[in-house]
Amino acid sequence: MIDKLNFAQRNLPIKSISASNQRLPRRLVTGRLAMTIQNMTSKELRQKYLDFFKAKSHAIIASASLIPENDPTTIFTGSGMQPMVPYLLGEKHPAGVRIADSQKCFRAGDIEEIGDNRHTTFFEMLGNWSLGDYFKKEQLAWMFEFLTKKLSLDSKNLYFTVFRGNEELGISRDDEAVEILKAEFKKAGLEAKAVDFSERDGLNGGRIFYYDESKNWWSRSGVPANMPIGEPGGPDSEIFWDFGAELKVHENSLFKNQPCHLNCACGRFLEIGNNVFMQYLKTEKGFERLPKGNIDFGGGLERLTAATDNKSDIFQTDLFKHIINRIEQLSGKKYGESEEITKAMRIIADHLKAATFIMADDKGITPSNTDRGYVLRRLIRRAIRYGRQIGINAAGGLWTKEIAKVVAHDYQTVYPELQKNINKVIEKFRAEEEKFGKTLEQGLKEFEKITDGQVAKKISGKEAFDLYQSYGFPLEITEELAKEKNCTVDGEACRAEMKKHQELSRTASAGAFKGGLADTSEQTKKLHTAAHLLLAALRKVLGAEVAQKGSNITAERLRFDFSYPEKMTDEQKKAVENLVNQAIKDASPIVCESMDLLKAKKIGAHGTFDSKYEEKVKVYTMGRSSAGSESPFSREICGGPHAGNTGELGHFKIKKEESSSAGVRRIKAILE
Ligand code: SER
Repeated sequence: MIDKLNFAQRNLPIKSISASNQRLPRRLVTGRLAMTIQNMTSKELRQKYLDFFKAKSHAIIASASLIPENDPTTIFTGSGMQPMVPYLLGEKHPAGVRIADSQKCFRAGDIEEIGDNRHTTFFEMLGNWSLGDYFKKEQLAWMFEFLTKKLSLDSKNLYFTVFRGNEELGISRDDEAVEILKAEFKKAGLEAKAVDFSERDGLNGGRIFYYDESKNWWSRSGVPANMPIGEPGGPDSEIFWDFGAELKVHENSLFKNQPCHLNCACGRFLEIGNNVFMQYLKTEKGFERLPKGNIDFGGGLERLTAATDNKSDIFQTDLFKHIINRIEQLSGKKYGESEEITKAMRIIADHLKAATFIMADDKGITPSNTDRGYVLRRLIRRAIRYGRQIGINAAGGLWTKEIAKVVAHDYQTVYPELQKNINKVIEKFRAEEEKFGKTLEQGLKEFEKITDGQVAKKISGKEAFDLYQSYGFPLEITEELAKEKNCTVDGEACRAEMKKHQELSRTASAGAFKGGLADTSEQTKKLHTAAHLLLAALRKVLGAEVAQKGSNITAERLRFDFSYPEKMTDEQKKAVENLVNQAIKDASPIVCESMDLLKAKKIGAHGTFDSKYEEKVKVYTMGRSSAGSESPFSREICGGPHAGNTGELGHFKIKKEESSSAGVRRIKAILE
């Protein structure tokens, strides 16, 4: 749903987008105070962050894929810490105990939030981690230094939140963080008052606020109560930037007549970063301390850029400037011209940027009716519908690929995979737009017919399903169209209909992924090892072109996606099973070595080599070489963890081999 509150900004003059490119200090008047801000491009900001932590002995690593490895908690990488989970749980990271990066992230859950000034589905998260090394004191002081000295953010506009504590969890309130922050503010000449957050009192003269676990606790699955056993998490301290009191209460605000506070949705305050003190593990007995405290910091690059520009609209930063310009050209409309146009342009810019990144990922996804492909389809089709609304494609030409070209160009030096895979991406956009374009007009007519003249009509599951089946309208688009007409949709019945037709098996919702986490239980480790043996066996049976396209491992089974154009025959499946079981029977030790990426490449390890950083990686070697060959059975770059010896695995069995998406097959397998 669109957060209406954020159109608080619509009555404010939209500053020229090109202003973000000026390098000279610019005088800004915020209403409360005047200040000088050193304008900085997002590229400079990203680099400053990495340089800052490099100077503090952090190894800079490349962004992991948007498609998570062995992490069933989300279908896309949604935070910088996700690829770090094994290391936060104690696995040794090959690059050491201090790591920093800029991670590509995508949050499918936010699709409907897009349209306001600060939400995006795709974003970059600047992250730094201490793996049992430094802790709270260093992190908060460094972050303060980075924000105020390196980004020249005025400490007067910085606010913090901390965890209020929870007796039931046995976790006390974070007075330690408060003391550290107070001292930092004092150095900057400010007296920082810490107060308990209360909605009634709002800011109440405070600069540091205690909130409960609904706001100041972080784990991949949210609040402590939702965390499964084996999941790490901890209290956090979030950082907010104040855009100024004039953005406060707005006539449509939910908070009308209520005092504004840091987490309220009026748009005045923007969360720009989160310091997580990752020190607990959920166990059967409650929360236990991890052997050592970890730091997990994440800061949204888009939001930090908005703060340094002091623009409350992230779509006006240089991370969106060229994309919005292109949408303006294509539509002949101007950003900011009306609320409707601004919202549509934000949705188009966000969705097509996200779709470009998802399709350009080395484990690239294609629009489809299942899993990630469905989310991607939804993004593209929703953008096309909004494009139509603001007059793009009047001449019937294909246009989504035009946005992809801008995205690939803008990010070429940071994410080279975009340019590398641009032709593939353009082709996917073309195919999807052509497909949807054929049915969109007719579908909209059909929708009009269904709702014609009926006030508050409830569109039946069957009608919504027909719009999906015949015209390619994802249910969510029908729901959105219905809302615009004050109608509703029987979504449940539609989903039941979809299930019945086995058209849609969406794993984006809970359910399909339930019951497992990127845990390090013995069985999960064994299945992870089996996944390596499986890839090696597939390459031996089907050919060396076979590449891994994704995997998902729980304690019960492994699921493995790989590139291959055809259904596997029974003989091929048997041959693969036999090879894996032979490697298990050989009972050879599994060897893990840490080495430079270049060396890993030289010795023939499989994995992604696109990194531009000189990284140390872990290489797992398993299984004996076959007669006449020098190479081991399997050698892959991987973070681990794995079993100690192939002999521990038991008997490997393929339960299913099926299509995952175009050109990608999926195997589900177990160890008996
Ligand atoms: N994991 C935390 C977040 O995503 C901080 O990196 O907010």
